[in-house]
Amino acid sequence: MTHEILGDFKAYSLAGTDQEVRFITSVLNLKSGESILDLYCGYGRHAIELAKQGFAVTGLDATQDFLDIAAQKAQKAMVNITFQQQDMRELNYNQQFEAVINMFAAFGYFTDDENANIIKLISTALKPRGLFLIDLLNRDWMVRNNLNRYWRHPSGEYVLSYKVQLENGIATMKRQLINQVTGTKIQYDFVLRAYSLPEMANIFSNSGLSIIETYGGFDGRPYSAETPRMIILAKKDT
Ligand SMILES: C[S@@+](CC[C@H](N)C(=O)[O-])C[C@H]1O[C@@H](n2cnc3c(N)ncnc32)[C@H](O)[C@@H]1O
Repeated sequence: MTHEILGDFKAYSLAGTDQEVRFITSVLNLKSGESILDLYCGYGRHAIELAKQGFAVTGLDATQDFLDIAAQKAQKAMVNITFQQQDMRELNYNQQFEAVINMFAAFGYFTDDENANIIKLISTALKPRGLFLIDLLNRDWMVRNNLNRYWRHPSGEYVLSYKVQLENGIATMKRQLINQVTGTKIQYDFVLRAYSLPEMANIFSNSGLSIIETYGGFDGRPYSAETPRMIILAKKDT
């Protein structure tokens, strides 16, 4: 690992959450006090910043350890967030949120039917004309660009290197985590159903959601084959 690459990782980390939260608030354009469900909130990095800005935030994740860290950070930041431990397949809100966000490739973990049903549950959770922002990896870009990435883990900072293989829409990411302090390496595969934009559009329309914008990055650039991310903003029809 060269010094130059580590420099890039640092820049990436600094840009990270701040830029993402600026992007989220600008595209959702909500009023203070309106409600946001952060679906798969992890350790709360978006939820906490959004709560600081006066939104009524609920953070949901399946991993209690992540939620515990998130709750501690929220307390330190002196913000009120409702945290809920739940599998997203069991989401059971009814017309409760102005917006639902699903950040950092936190979708595509299950079968096609289960994934599609999650989008239905998200649509049900939204108030009429509510917004859904989903941030996915651009699968084709990922396959062409097997890069080292910086990844923030609750227990410290790791460098993540990966190689992506795509077969029948299933992306297999061969990951290697390198702990910067101890030098320890952990290798594992991460498998995700990576959807194309037409596939997502079809799932959305079956759930009463219409795509209103697509983006290729948190700087707001338009989505294309050349962008690392596929970020979709959709609106509930009624
Ligand atoms: C890629 S992380 C993204 C976290 C967060 N959105 C962020 O940007 O930091 C994926 C998250 O999904 C959660 N997760 C994995 N499987 C889940 C499930 N079946 N139900 C709910 N959350 C789950 C993990 O605990 C993890 O926090």
